[in-house]
Amino acid sequence: MKALILAGGAGTRLRPITHTRAKQLVPVANKPILHYGIDAMVAAGIEEIGVIVGDTRAEVTSNLGDGTQFGASITYIPQDAPLGLAHCVLIAREFLGDDDFVMYLGDNLLEQDLAAFVRAFEAARAGEEPPAAQILLKQVPDPHRFGIATLDESGGVVALVEKPEDPPSDLALVGVYLFTSRVHDAVAAIEPSPRGELEITDAIQWLLDRGERVRCELLSGWWIDTGKLTPLLEANRLLLEKIETHIEGSIDDASSIEGRVVIGAGTEIVNSTIRGPVAIGAGSRIVDSFVGPFSAIGNDCEVRHSEIEHSVVMDDSSITDIPRLEDSLIGSDARVARSRQKPRALRLMVGDHCQIDVE
Ligand code: G1P
Repeated sequence: MKALILAGGAGTRLRPITHTRAKQLVPVANKPILHYGIDAMVAAGIEEIGVIVGDTRAEVTSNLGDGTQFGASITYIPQDAPLGLAHCVLIAREFLGDDDFVMYLGDNLLEQDLAAFVRAFEAARAGEEPPAAQILLKQVPDPHRFGIATLDESGGVVALVEKPEDPPSDLALVGVYLFTSRVHDAVAAIEPSPRGELEITDAIQWLLDRGERVRCELLSGWWIDTGKLTPLLEANRLLLEKIETHIEGSIDDASSIEGRVVIGAGTEIVNSTIRGPVAIGAGSRIVDSFVGPFSAIGNDCEVRHSEIEHSVVMDDSSITDIPRLEDSLIGSDARVARSRQKPRALRLMVGDHCQIDVE
C-alpha cells in the first residue's frame, strides 16, 4: 500500500498568509497541517508516500525533506496547474505502479485514526466481492460544497455527484480515499468538470457505472477542511483539546499555569497567566500577559503586556501592548503593537513579515 498526499493547492482563501507560505504548512497546535496527514499514513503502516506539489513546491520539499523525519520515504510529483484531484492520480501513475493506495488531501484534518480504515479495505479486498475503491463519508450541514454520495438501503454506494445544487443526501466525501489500480482506467477516461478539473468524484462514479464495487465508511469523529481562517482556528482548538501538559521552559513565581499546557525548551513565562489548553513553542518570551484557551504560539515569539485567546501566532512574531487579541492568525516574523491602551478586542489575519501598529 502506498499513499498519495495532495499538497499542490494555492490556498487563496487564506491570503495573505499564503502569499508567503504553503497553506499545508500553516501550523495548527504548533505542527504544520501537512505533518498530521503524513503521520497518519505512517501510523497506518504506509511508508512510501508520493506528495503532489504545485507553486509552493520549494517550501514543501524543504520542509518535508526525504521523509526520514517521519519514518517514511517521500517522492515528489510536480503538478504544473491545479487541474483536479483525478489529475493528481494521472500524473502519479509511475510512482503508484499497480499498488493499492490511499489518497489524502493535504489540507484535511481528521480526528479519527486511519489505520482501521485502511485495514478494513485490505480485509474487503481479500473477501468475496473485492471493492475497487473505498470512500469515507461524513454528514455535513452544507452538502452543496462537497462531493455527495447516495447510498442504497443496505448502505452500498450507488452514486456520487460533485457539489450538487440539489444535494441527494448530506453525506459528503471526506478527503481520504482508497483505490486499487482500477482507478487509473477511470482517471484516464473521464472529462473535465464545469470548473475545468478532473474530479475524483467523477472517476469513482465511472467505476460504479462499470459495475465495480465501492465500499464506504461513515466517519464518526470530526473532520475539517482547513482552507479558511475559521475552520483553521477550529482545527487548532480541537487539536489543542487533546494535548497533555509538558513543560520544558521556565515559569517565574509571579506567573500561573492553569489547565493543560505545552511549553517548549528555553521559553520564559514572566509575570503572566497561561490558561490551557495552550501550546507555546521553544525560545519564546511571555511577559506581563495572559495567554488564554486555544492559543498556539510558535517558536521565538514575544508576547508582552497583551492578552491572547483562541489564536495562532507563528514563529518569530511579537505581540506588544495589545489589550485583547482573539480569533486571529498571525504570520511568522510579524509585529503587532499598539501605542496607547484602548479596551477593544482585535481580530486579525496578519501575513508573514508584517508590521501592524494600532493607534
Ligand atoms: C474536494 C472534492 C470533494 C470533497 C472535498 C473534501 O473538493 O472534490 O468531492 O468532498 O474535496 O474536502 P475541493 O476542495 O476541491 O472543492
